[in-house]
Amino acid sequence: MIPVWRPDPESIAKAAQALQAGRLIAMPTETVYGLAANALDARALARIFAVKGRPFFDPLIVHVHSMEQARTLVLDLPPKALALMERFWPGPLTVVLPRAPAIPDLATSGLPSVALRYPRHPVATALLRQCGFPLAAPSANPFGGLSPTRPEHVAFAFDEGVDAVIDGGPCEVGLESTIIGFHRGEPTLLRAGGLALETLQECVGAISLDPGRGGDKAQTPPGHPQAIEAPGQLPWHYAPSTPLRLIAEPAAIADREGRGLLSFRGLGSTRGYLSVEVLSPSGDLIEAAARLFSCLHRLDAQGLKGIDAETVPDSGLGRAILDRLSKASRRPAN
Ligand code: TXA
Ligand code: MG
Repeated sequence: MIPVWRPDPESIAKAAQALQAGRLIAMPTETVYGLAANALDARALARIFAVKGRPFFDPLIVHVHSMEQARTLVLDLPPKALALMERFWPGPLTVVLPRAPAIPDLATSGLPSVALRYPRHPVATALLRQCGFPLAAPSANPFGGLSPTRPEHVAFAFDEGVDAVIDGGPCEVGLESTIIGFHRGEPTLLRAGGLALETLQECVGAISLDPGRGGDKAQTPPGHPQAIEAPGQLPWHYAPSTPLRLIAEPAAIADREGRGLLSFRGLGSTRGYLSVEVLSPSGDLIEAAARLFSCLHRLDAQGLKGIDAETVPDSGLGRAILDRLSKASRRPAN
């Protein structure tokens, strides 16, 4: 377990010093907690990969505190990228752009592009301002596991290698950022996330779902050349240690013994399940997204034989929720 620090100015100053010295700090963001290191310090970046057990071919997101700072890290800013950044930053939007030479190869896995995000959590922005340098931060969990949306998720996930987690409360959005890449200036969805595709499209028009590039990138084997576009889109990810299966509705499931249920609205009989978590009784996808990882963490802590996760509507934030659940369901049995 690592220490939890209060989100006060002393902690922010101590955290900035640790980051300046090349150490790691877990910070709250509005999406999920991030495991932060100085993005311009290759040795600090190497620590992120070591502590998370993350493969080097999976590039990191670099966090900034302003548009001005973002401009110093990229070579080109297409008009549609600028429009999205101006409209949705700070917030759960990551843009992938041609990278400036200052960024070490380790941050981008050697790709010519860098993923940039300006988070809106006040603790993250205070820390970024205090540091002055950008912070690379993947989700603060061991590689492939459930993303942390509360400080205790982070505290229990690591024993060493991280100085502390700063307590920023439960994450408001609860899903990782939506990642948009650009091909000849046109936007492409690389990862569904905490900002709905429909909302982004209202700003810049059509966003390609990238069908021409191998379709569902989640099917691409790790290390395969087709995976280069978004190497983080591995076959399984975001998984609890309990086996999870995706179900259309609980009514169709007979074998409930020893199992838990992740229900969307809590409709229908749940008899026979050992434990039930409901994402949103009113069917609100924003509430469901915010609760997703907390509910999964609770179910995962109970030593269940398996988790049945009910599907959600495939629109708005439902797209990202379904992406996380289907990736979790693909984890191979240990
Ligand atoms: O909300 C978030 O995005 C959180 C918080 C902490 O900011 N961070 C996060 O980081 O989810 P992580 O490491 O779990 O996701 C990074 C993913 C990679 O797996 C990859 O899919 C994509 O970002 N990525 C990063 N750099 C890229 C690049 N140059 N080209 C394409 N995809 C990239
Ligand atoms: Mg992650």
